[in-house]
Amino acid sequence: MAHTTTFHYLNQTSWRPTSPSFPFTIMEVKKDQHTSPPSETIPIVDLSNPDEELVSRAVVKASQEWGIFHVVNHGISMDLIRRLKEVGTQFFELPETEKKAVAKPDDSQDFEGYTRNLKYTEGEVWADNLFHRILPQSCINYKYWPRNPPQYREVTEEYTKETKKLSERLLGFLSEGLGLRHEALKEGLGGEKSEYVLRINNFPPNPQPDATLGLPEHTDIVALALIVTNEVPGLQVFHEDHWFDIQYVPSSITVTIGDQILRLSNGKYKNVLHRVTVDKEKQRMSWPVFVDANPDVVIRPLPELITGDNPSMFKPIVCKDFKYRRLFKLPVD
Ligand code: OGA
Ligand code: NI
Repeated sequence: MAHTTTFHYLNQTSWRPTSPSFPFTIMEVKKDQHTSPPSETIPIVDLSNPDEELVSRAVVKASQEWGIFHVVNHGISMDLIRRLKEVGTQFFELPETEKKAVAKPDDSQDFEGYTRNLKYTEGEVWADNLFHRILPQSCINYKYWPRNPPQYREVTEEYTKETKKLSERLLGFLSEGLGLRHEALKEGLGGEKSEYVLRINNFPPNPQPDATLGLPEHTDIVALALIVTNEVPGLQVFHEDHWFDIQYVPSSITVTIGDQILRLSNGKYKNVLHRVTVDKEKQRMSWPVFVDANPDVVIRPLPELITGDNPSMFKPIVCKDFKYRRLFKLPVD
């Protein structure tokens, strides 16, 4: 079966019932596509280039054509990223009983907390996850932030500040690419009330790597994700009818465009379809920070974009309803 990543496909695909797992929904795509020749690569944008116009255009082009790109010289210190990975790795090395201190309660309607999802069933997640909000301050539930290792909180708070700056810079470029003010997309997501969530994915080695995916195909239901990983590759994206392996670039942060930016931009920026493979011998870990609209914001194409020649492609929907419908595989216009 051939697949395309057109918006029609993404909107009309049928969803299969699975348990909700923020921040993505699983799409029905068969694992039968071959992967990319190693020479092909997603765009790499050097954010330190003094020519801001050029940087902005590169971010816009990558978001239109791929919906995913690496950023290098992004301004977040490698030492901070090393410490972020260190505290997360230490947490996942704790005995199961200690990790349970921040477990997601079984009856929780929310996604926050630690969960263990190691199953062999095809189409399921093969990963342990820790999720917790990191912004705004009023939404933080420290009961889901590990106390062990003790530096976890300090490191995560420092990383949060840096990812906020970086994501606002990227949203600024994307707004300018729409011909709008720098703040337009940030405001469309709820301004200072937009939510940031840290997820830590731990993908242990898997004895059947060809039969299992760490994360099945999905688009992120949020605005953006900023991802750092350990040195084990595994992320793949679907682009022009092929699955592409995303190479590990040690100093980079990988940026993915999610459903909310697709909608706010009236389809200009692409929500990238992606998945994560597992390795027979190596453990992979990743640290996405998700930039998410405030739950009460109405997700809709920014009104300034809508003209007679550019009619709205999406119906307005309140963010929390949008996410609920996406998580439970209900159609969204
Ligand atoms: C996710 C995701 C990518 C990765 O957590 O939604 O797509 O590289 N992660 O682990
Ligand atoms: Ni994702």
